Order: sequence, then C-alpha cells, then structure tokens
Amino acid sequence: MNFQINSFEEYQDAYKKSVENPEQFWGEIADHFFWKRKWNNVLNWNFTEPNIKWFEGGKLNITENCLDRHIYQNGDTPAIIWEPNDPTEAHRILTYKQLLAKVEQFANVLKNNNVRKGDRVCIYLPMVPELVIAILACARIGAIHSVVFGGFSAQSIADRINDAECKLVITADGGFRGPKVLELKSIVDDALMQCKSVEKVIVLTRSRTPVSMIKGRDVWWEDEIKKVETQDNPPCPAEEMDSEDPLFVLYTSGSTGKPKGVVHTTAGYMVYTGYTFSNVFQYQPGEVYFCTADIGWITGHSYIVYGPLSQGATSLMFEGVPTYPDAGRFWDIVEKYKVNILYTAPTAIRSLMAFGDSFIEGKDLSSLKKLGSVGEPINKEAWEWYHEKIGRGKAPITDTWWQTENGGILIAPLPGITPTIPSYAMLPLPGVQPCLMDENGNELEGNDVSGNLCIKFPWPGMLRTTWGDHERCRQTYFTAYKNMYFTGDGCYRSPEGYYRITGRVDDVLNVSGHRIGTAELENAINMHSDVVESAIVGYPHPVKGQGIYAYVIANHHIDAEGTRKDILQTVTRLIGAIAKPDIIQFVTDLPKTRSGKIMRRILRKIAEGELSSLGDTTTLQDPTVVEKIIEGAEKLRK
Ligand code: PRX
Repeated sequence: MNFQINSFEEYQDAYKKSVENPEQFWGEIADHFFWKRKWNNVLNWNFTEPNIKWFEGGKLNITENCLDRHIYQNGDTPAIIWEPNDPTEAHRILTYKQLLAKVEQFANVLKNNNVRKGDRVCIYLPMVPELVIAILACARIGAIHSVVFGGFSAQSIADRINDAECKLVITADGGFRGPKVLELKSIVDDALMQCKSVEKVIVLTRSRTPVSMIKGRDVWWEDEIKKVETQDNPPCPAEEMDSEDPLFVLYTSGSTGKPKGVVHTTAGYMVYTGYTFSNVFQYQPGEVYFCTADIGWITGHSYIVYGPLSQGATSLMFEGVPTYPDAGRFWDIVEKYKVNILYTAPTAIRSLMAFGDSFIEGKDLSSLKKLGSVGEPINKEAWEWYHEKIGRGKAPITDTWWQTENGGILIAPLPGITPTIPSYAMLPLPGVQPCLMDENGNELEGNDVSGNLCIKFPWPGMLRTTWGDHERCRQTYFTAYKNMYFTGDGCYRSPEGYYRITGRVDDVLNVSGHRIGTAELENAINMHSDVVESAIVGYPHPVKGQGIYAYVIANHHIDAEGTRKDILQTVTRLIGAIAKPDIIQFVTDLPKTRSGKIMRRILRKIAEGELSSLGDTTTLQDPTVVEKIIEGAEKLRK
C-alpha cells in the first residue's frame, strides 16, 4: 500500500499535512481502501457531546477490505498462520482465499441462527483460527462482536453479555493454555444463568472437555457448518455498512466500578488500523508478522485481525503461553516460521529475561527485522535485553503507546525511520495531536515538561461512545479538560520533543499489560462476607510491571490464611484470575481524611516501601492508623 512512510522527511511532511489539513490527509489515505460508496464528509466533530463522525455517508464492509480485495492477486498468500499450544500438534495455515471461504460459511451459520445486522454477539473462544473466523463473520453480516478474554469469569461474561444484550454466544468446549485446560463452555453455562437476552450458543470442539449441551439453545459449530455446506455452501455477500455503524464493543476497566463497553465504528477504525499497521511495522509483502497478544484485548483486535488483514499481511497467531513447554517457545516459533516482525509486551520480555539466556541459545532469530512493544512502559533493562538478545542489536524496537479507546497506535517510532530511546514512545503518528496539561487545565507548551496526556484533535480510530451510556463516555474522557480527549496517562516531553509515558494518573492499575480498575476490584473483595472494607493500590513488580496490593479490613481473621484464600477465590469468581491481588494485608483501619476519603497516596507509599516520603498525615481522622499499617507491612515483608 503506498501510504507507507519511507523516511524521516516523509514522516515530517505527513505529520505537517495531517495537522494543517486533516480532512485532505485522511481522505487520501481512505482512498486506498475499498468502498461500496464514497463518503460525503471526511470529518464532523465536537468533543463537547462528544460527536465524532469520520467518512460520513460512506458505505463499505470491513471484511471486503480484509479479505475479498486481496483474493485476486494474493489469494494464496497465508492470511493466518496458527501455532497450537502443544508444539507436537499440527499447525494450520489459512490463505486469504481459504479464510474468506470459511468466513462466508460461518456468516451463513450466524444468519441461520437468526443473527441480523446490528445484533450483538459475544465471543468467548480460545486463540484458534475459528476466533478470527467468528469475528470476521460477524463483521460480514453487520453483527456487532463483543469478544471476552478467555481469562474472565462467568460473572464478568454475564455482566458483559447483559450490558450489550447479546443474542448469541460463540464458545468452545474448552481451551488449552500451557499445561491447563480452560472449561470455557462450563463457564459460559454459569454465566448464562443470569442472561435473558441469549437465544443460542454455538460451541466449537477444541479440547473434547465434556460439556452439557442444552436442548434448543446450544448447537455444535461443526453441525451448523454441515447444514450450510449441504446448501452448496453459498457465498455470503458482505452487508453494506455505514461508515459510522458500530463494528464492535470491547469492555475495559476504568476508575469506576463497572467496565465500560468501548464502541468502535467501521470506517474510521479500518482506515486507522490499516494505516498504522503498515507504518508502525513498516510491513513489506511476504513478511511474517507475529503479535503475541490475545485477541480478547484491543491489541489482538487491531493488530492480529483487522490491521494486518486489511493490508494483506501474514499474521501469525499463537494459542499458548510464552513459557510452555518451556521459556524458549517464542524463539522456537520465530525460528520455525522465520518471523520478521515480533510484537509483544514488556511483561513477557521481563519474564523470559528472568529465565536466563539459555533458552535463546542455539535458536535462529536472524529473520527478525523489527520488534514492537505494547501495553505498559518498558523499562530500560528489558528494552536493552530485547534489543541485544532478541534483535541482535540490529532490529529497531518500536515502543507503541495507545489504549483500547484509541483503536490503534498513537505514539510510536517508525522502525528504521524515527530515532529510538529506551522507554520512550518518541513521536506522535501523523494525525495525532498530543498535548500535556497541568493540574489547572493549562496546556504546557515547549519541551522538558511533564503533565497529563491529552489529545486535542480527533483521529479516525478513536472510540465514539461507551455502549448504552454516552454520558459515561463524555464524563470519562471529555470533561477533565475542555475540548480534549483525556488519556488518563502521565507523560514527559523531553528537550528534543520526544514523548515518554510515565503511567496512569487515575485509579487504574496496569498489571502485566492488563488494565485493572481499583474500584472494580475493591467491590469484588468487599463482596466476601468476612470483608468490611478494602483499598487496592499498585506497587512496582519485577515481572508484572505493577503488582496488586490489597489492604483489607476483615470481620474476624482468626484464620488469616484461610480468609486470604477465600478472598482470592472471590476475586477469581467475580472478575477472573488476572485480578487476584499479589499481596493481601489485613488491617484494622484505613487512613482516612476527616471527610472519610481513603488516602491512597499513603497506602501506595507503604506498598512501595517508601516510608520516608509519606507526607503530611496530620489531617487524618486517626494518624495512628498509619503506624499500625506500616508495622503490619513490615511483618508481611519478612
Ligand atoms: O497506561 C497506558 C498503558 O496501557 C494503558 C492502556 O491499556 P489498554 O487499553 O488495556 O491497552 C493496552 C494495549 C494498547 C495506557 O493508558 N500503555 C499502553 N501502551 C503503553 C503504555 N504505557 C507505556 N508505554 C506504552 N507503550
């Protein structure tokens, strides 16, 4: 695709044009996609409601851009390479032609099961090619997918299904993750006891885990495919969608109790993920690109599925975990498929680094040309290890900063084009206008400044609303600073004008690259009958980036160890194992102001072990509480 930037001068020109004339800039990029009908207006927007519309009046289907348009010249190019959890099981390759056929087939299955344009479909599948097929089949017929990460609990699935009123669920009997089998169907069954909107469940066979199939509700994927095959496998024409028709909902945690359904629409998301994929990875035809994320998160949506496929790339997806059967698994995969581009998370890098270099020795990593990082700040040590050991000092690293709400990457170096500095996301991509704000709402001009990161102009991939609650979208992102999108991140701009993300400034933790809302987790812990109150803070963790520290007031803890385990079980049930606290400290009271507000700053310092800088504690209701908590924390450390 010829919107790829090839030099730093081209980047500067593109950036300048994108700011001076954004409509012309994005209109020219959108021309590289396939439209059933061209748009009337490139952009209409205000950040006060907010009301953001890109390519209004345009008609298209994203799957024609991701599949059909590649068939003529590149039909036999691998679209998806799938590496199973167990390295002795056969891998699978789906060419663009094969993927299109399977998507059309499954789209017909969805239609047979009464799914129509605008209906919501919940997808709870392991990392198998059928997950990509299911996503694209929804998009083919204009159904809105809501993918739920396989690590979430029945309660979390139920909450998400009910919020979006999903009509159908697609799941599997079970899924493999390292040595474990996840009983996905059984978890869905538990969830559905609370969900009235669901009419049908389509179940894929993967692990042969025994399942209970409910008559009239549950059907097997394979049986449904047979039914459409006997109808001579008719193709499924792509539904004509408006540019601003919702494509998907993806739930993410924020600083309030309940996860939000971030809504992305069709055309802007397609243009933005395609443009950023091509540029940030400098993708060249024939290259093998491996993103290690799970499709249950935004990274997988944008950079395993939609971005790479719209650009005709070969996208490798991996079912398992980096440490199974051993900590050399990523490197085995790189060697096996001669991977050229690797996109992974700092937490994976740090964990593999901790296993030592013996797992890299003897592995041929010479195919790697470009490396990417995403999800959390990457520390210098991990950056250098990634650069030296994995990239052999030759493959540039692109540290990509963005969020679920952004749809695609906003700030990142273009490998080989932009300079790189460890722990810096460097420069905004064309079309992205970041600014740093101080606490009084003033923009910090110039360089060598730190502030809250905002974006002052829309970009095509940004969220449009939060499902069923537009006011919440406005409140969360568009009220902190007038006429700006507020990211929730802190940021430093260096003397050279390079951006370095310093972490969340709100009550959201980033644990192994996953967003955990402290309020949501506290609510879950408080559900346990022995818990009176709790407060969650983050602390630096050598592998996870941030660990979860829970201060808990319990009714009675004669059996502290037992209560601790019960709390972990409660969190696993209500949210999922990913939100389990690393440390639980039982306390008798929490430090509160006279108005009853918990002083998290103090709790954070204690969790970090930074006792010398606790600050003023005299305004607390009861300053002696702090002493007791410090004592307890010290005991816990021993
Ligand atoms: O704090 C930032 C951090 O992850 C948050 C977004 O999380 P999520 O929506 O789950 O999306 C993760 C994958 C896109 C951000 O607010 N974050 C993400 N990437 C980086 C990062 N922090 C520093 N550097 C990054 N490259």
